[in-house]
Amino acid sequence: MDRVGILVVEDEESQRSLLAGLLKNEGYTVSEAADGATAYDLLQKGIFEIVLLDYRLPDTDGLALLKKIKELNPSTEVVMITAFGSIENAVGALKAGASEYLTKPIDLDDLLFKLRKIEEKTYLIRENMVLRETLRDRFKSEEFVYQSEKMHEVSSLVVRIAKTDSTCIIGGESGVGKEVVLNMIHALSDRKNFPLIKVNCAAIPETLLESELFGYEKGAFTGAYQRKPGKFELANKGTIFLDEIGDIPLILQSKLLRVIQEREIERLGGSHPIKVDVRIIAATNRNLEEEVKKGTFREDLYYRLNVVTINVPPLRERKEDIPLLIDFFLKKYNLKHKKNVRGLTREARDVLVKYDYPGNVRELENILERAIVLTRGEHITSEDLPNLTDHAGAAGDGSIRGTVESLERSMIIEALVNADWVQTKAALTLGLSERMLRYKIKKYNIVRSSRP
Ligand SMILES: Nc1ncnc2c1ncn2[C@@H]1O[C@H](COP(=O)(O)OP(=O)(O)OP(=O)(O)O)[C@@H](O)[C@H]1O
Ligand SMILES: [Mg+2]
Repeated sequence: MDRVGILVVEDEESQRSLLAGLLKNEGYTVSEAADGATAYDLLQKGIFEIVLLDYRLPDTDGLALLKKIKELNPSTEVVMITAFGSIENAVGALKAGASEYLTKPIDLDDLLFKLRKIEEKTYLIRENMVLRETLRDRFKSEEFVYQSEKMHEVSSLVVRIAKTDSTCIIGGESGVGKEVVLNMIHALSDRKNFPLIKVNCAAIPETLLESELFGYEKGAFTGAYQRKPGKFELANKGTIFLDEIGDIPLILQSKLLRVIQEREIERLGGSHPIKVDVRIIAATNRNLEEEVKKGTFREDLYYRLNVVTINVPPLRERKEDIPLLIDFFLKKYNLKHKKNVRGLTREARDVLVKYDYPGNVRELENILERAIVLTRGEHITSEDLPNLTDHAGAAGDGSIRGTVESLERSMIIEALVNADWVQTKAALTLGLSERMLRYKIKKYNIVRSSRP
């Protein structure tokens, strides 16, 4: 690894060459300056990550030069060298933006240690910048919006694993953006020109799931009039996304395990295995480790899938992202609904930043879409927002789908209330399987305080 560039600014010749020699020996790229004017000149022409700066210089004092360096390039790291005992100068330097200070006589080990620390930091920052650039390039549509440290970590993990073929589990509460993360992984991978096939294991009835995943041959069962390829086959050379993996019944889990191990599938009613080259990514908002303990999820499958875990943190733990998301959704829904809402009143913004979002980003998105449709003015006011002490999700939006969904949501809540929140009972009255009911409860963010 190339080490960073350091400029040594020190008027005393012997001291300067001693420092320069030492640093060159360590592999740094070193330049020297005997006074402030030379130093400033060099800084304008070249790139130095670190400046080692003597406080007392013949033509200027270190503090003034420090300020000029920071004006030139705020990310230049300055290590100030002060005379022994002049602690005020050191404090002044730190206040003016120096990263470190050393007192004369210089403890060389201490110097090297501090430089290494700064160097690591600059590498990290640079890496982060490269990463951001990469992401910006790939996501011109900018569908993945964040600025929080936590989401930076998520996206750096995404970039690191995207080009590998390792299976992974994307975890996180409902609506946090698991699918957004999945889309990124696929888009950044070498499989990006091949299909990304998504299967929602909770939304497909158990009896159909197997044939959906693996396909069937003609005559495999009543109604199988012709051969149908499964999702795994369709995803060949690409990625398959098994959403709500925790909802796969045990029998299918063992079949899935075999697919992962053998890299081949067998259609229902088929007589020979078919090779598939598919990357598997799963998502869940359940705690799979607990499911393993309970015996509802196979341990071996869990370990096979969980080569890498990406946990997307809930929105309430990264509220810094809220303002960016607000702007993003404003643009998106102004366009969709042909509106020209410019922003939110301060009060409305405050309400949105304070709220806890049990339904995470999806809930924020629903709230904003609804507000954009409802508002009469150019700014969304707090009157355009739902009562956010009630944790209701799935705001209706006037479209047929929105209307059907809000009707469905109301019916489910009513059935649950009538059944004293016993899901088996409610599922019966609704004519849904329990599994489907669980799925819908999650989809609509239904909790006990929800009102129809
Ligand atoms: N960082 C983000 N930037 C922009 N949009 C986002 C972001 N995160 C989530 N969204 C949007 O929020 C909505 C919910 O995200 P997504 O469907 O990925 O959540 P999920 O974690 O898969 O939820 P579920 O567990 O219910 O399946 C989507 O419309 C998505 O586009
Ligand atoms: Mg999802």
